Amino acid sequence: MTFSGWILALCLVALKGQSHATQAEEGAGSERNCTIVPPYLPPTAINTTRRLHELRAVMKTHSISAYIIPGTDAHLSEYIAPRDARLAWMSGFTGSSGTAVVTQDKAVLWTDSRYWVQAERQMDCNWELEKDISISSITKWLIKELNEEDQVGFDPFLFSVDTFDAYNNNLAPAKRNLTSIPDNLVDQIWATRPSLPPDNLTRLPDDFIERTWQMKVDLIRAQMMNNPYKPTAVLLSALDETAWLLNMRGNDIPFNPFFYSYTLLTLDEIWLFVHTKRLTEEIKVYLNSSCTLSYCVQLFEYETVREHLKKYLTEPSVRVWVGTEYTNQALYELITPEEKLLQSEYSPVLTTKAMKDETEQKILRAAHIRDAVAVMQLLYQLERTVPEGMETELTAAQLVNEYRSMQKFSRGPSFETISASGPNAALAHYSPSNETARKLTTDEMYLVDSGGQYLDGTTDITRTVHWGSPTDFQKEAFTRVLMGNIEISRTIFPAGTRGVNMEMLGRRALWEVGLNYGHGTGHGVGNYFGVHEWPVGFQSNNIPFQQGMFTSIEPGYYRVNEFGIRIEDVAVIVPAKTMYGNNYLTFDTVSLVPYDRKLIDTSLLSPEQLQWLDTYYLTIRSTMGPELKRQGLTEIYNWMMDNTEPFLKTGSSAAIPSISLLLLLLPIALL
Ligand SMILES: *[C@@H]1O[C@H](CO)[C@@H](O)[C@H](O)[C@H]1NC(C)=O
Ligand SMILES: *[C@@H]1O[C@H](CO)[C@@H](O)[C@H](O)[C@H]1NC(C)=O
Ligand SMILES: *[C@@H]1O[C@H](CO)[C@@H](O)[C@H](O)[C@H]1NC(C)=O
Ligand SMILES: *[C@@H]1O[C@H](CO)[C@@H](O)[C@H](O)[C@H]1NC(C)=O
Ligand SMILES: *[C@@H]1O[C@H](CO)[C@@H](O)[C@H](O)[C@H]1NC(C)=O
Ligand SMILES: *[C@@H]1O[C@H](CO)[C@@H](O)[C@H](O)[C@H]1NC(C)=O
Repeated sequence: MTFSGWILALCLVALKGQSHATQAEEGAGSERNCTIVPPYLPPTAINTTRRLHELRAVMKTHSISAYIIPGTDAHLSEYIAPRDARLAWMSGFTGSSGTAVVTQDKAVLWTDSRYWVQAERQMDCNWELEKDISISSITKWLIKELNEEDQVGFDPFLFSVDTFDAYNNNLAPAKRNLTSIPDNLVDQIWATRPSLPPDNLTRLPDDFIERTWQMKVDLIRAQMMNNPYKPTAVLLSALDETAWLLNMRGNDIPFNPFFYSYTLLTLDEIWLFVHTKRLTEEIKVYLNSSCTLSYCVQLFEYETVREHLKKYLTEPSVRVWVGTEYTNQALYELITPEEKLLQSEYSPVLTTKAMKDETEQKILRAAHIRDAVAVMQLLYQLERTVPEGMETELTAAQLVNEYRSMQKFSRGPSFETISASGPNAALAHYSPSNETARKLTTDEMYLVDSGGQYLDGTTDITRTVHWGSPTDFQKEAFTRVLMGNIEISRTIFPAGTRGVNMEMLGRRALWEVGLNYGHGTGHGVGNYFGVHEWPVGFQSNNIPFQQGMFTSIEPGYYRVNEFGIRIEDVAVIVPAKTMYGNNYLTFDTVSLVPYDRKLIDTSLLSPEQLQWLDTYYLTIRSTMGPELKRQGLTEIYNWMMDNTEPFLKTGSSAAIPSISLLLLLLPIALL
């Protein structure tokens, strides 16, 4: 895919607030003022004078005129561990999106509009803020500031192949030369850099595994052998690639059960790069349990990956298959000459992983059932405590985390809960802090976007509710968002259809009245993995939909300074029976929490949409009923029953104009 496509995808993700970045600083203190003497610095600003001085000294030893500091890690992870927060340490700025450039006399941060205020509060006057995030803006600046033949240093581990190309394509014609420095310069001066988490790596329980790691190795090797370019090895760089292949998990990244790793999988060997001291004897046995030649996992230290890849590449007639989206430039640049490289957008592991096997589907559904219990408990509880003035955005976020933690196999939240009331819900990526948390009241709409990690699955769900009297406009907007969710969910499509080609179904009801939303419509989720599991989803760089994929469906609507609406469910792609065709698919929603009835204007829904809703509610009853009883949650059970009353048979249908009621009763009478 193209670079701009990826950036667009990232921006869409970011806009939605899927970055789930903490905004603790927002609302706290004030902004710096560098134009007065002495400058005004808020207490939240970090003094970076000394760090910059030290970095510049190291830069001189490498004869570079500028150094680029991205905000990602060597695996191009969405969430990074504290030890990878180099950008934050250098600049003070802790937002989840940004790039810094340091020269001998300037230090500049590029970030997008979500973070401008935060940057002004966190940076001292050593730093300039560029209100842009595009690479062309950074390279233009570099060309302006530097002379021809000047060297621009960068850490190739922190650049994807595409990112590197984008920089290089802009800088090379202007004769500014990118210099790859694999030893990160910030790390060299960051004395207090956090160490690795002490946790040992774990393996998934047998109950949750259908394909052993040996079977998965076979699967990938078969794809290598069937590939016309005859790759001899696959290089795995994204953290979920090695974890998936070996059915292992770790705890290195907040909210994500990943561990630092690379794998070089050849036709007869498996080279695993990890911090080997974190492997227990049990895991070592697990990895060597069938140690015939081609199923021996050979262990190497994480830091030696370049060395060993180089060594492999000296062998004759080898060819390494990489997925360019998640391979860093540090590894990619070693794979020369070109005959030794086979590249695709995604590695065969990522495309294979996207389709869950029977067991993975079963346990991911089971995780969503337990997760729905926690979300229902939250909504039930808030209905009681909000009118008494007892809740804030923060207490509600804590509540849902607590309810989740009481469910079996719980491993904490899958991202920082977005718990947003009134105007806060209209902010792109809001998570409450002590300073910003609004009291929840019956006068405002409330949006809660949250998810859990469980040993068997990862969840992500958004519900929007109103405890008082919503305005007609709020009801209409909510209903149109719901219509978008339903229209996608009930679509029948040929296998292999791309999400991007159906995502407008999620917007159509909004577009009809001139409303829209500025974020993506959905993303894959994993089995105890990332809450955004690419490359599944509705983005232009996502792979075609196939049976067994899980994706979120999440249209929304945001009214600045007033309210925000999002309705997000996770659905699995299942076969659809059609009258004439074979190989058609549809979505089966696995998030099982009813929508706020008060916000639904049934007169806007088509008969098919109402019918879909009733069928969904029947599924909630038949699935959640027994589970709530099993957990002894009678009050929640009653709440669930009340909130899943069919629309087509009860009093609510009175809201439907009699003509359309007639029309829709006709086909139903025939069922
Ligand atoms: C900085 O302070 C000066 C003097 O009070 C004021 O005129 C200016 O607008 C301030 N600049 C910013 C960025 O706040
Ligand atoms: C920042 O730290 C440097 C030395 O590390 C010191 O000289 C300077 O006064 C500090 N700046 C401010 C604004 O405190
Ligand atoms: C850039 O600089 C590096 C290191 O000095 C050098 O090896 C490389 O050939 C240069 N590349 C270009 C395109 O000038
Ligand atoms: C990790 O495993 C090693 C080797 O088995 C053991 O010595 C160590 O105590 C374990 N560490 C933790 C945090 O469990
Ligand atoms: C498995 O056994 C091989 C050969 O003895 C050894 O090189 C390798 O390090 C072992 N791997 C693990 C995970 O213990
Ligand atoms: C809010 O403040 C309390 C008490 O000072 C503190 O314990 C808590 O960590 C803070 N929470 C957040 C989200 O900042």
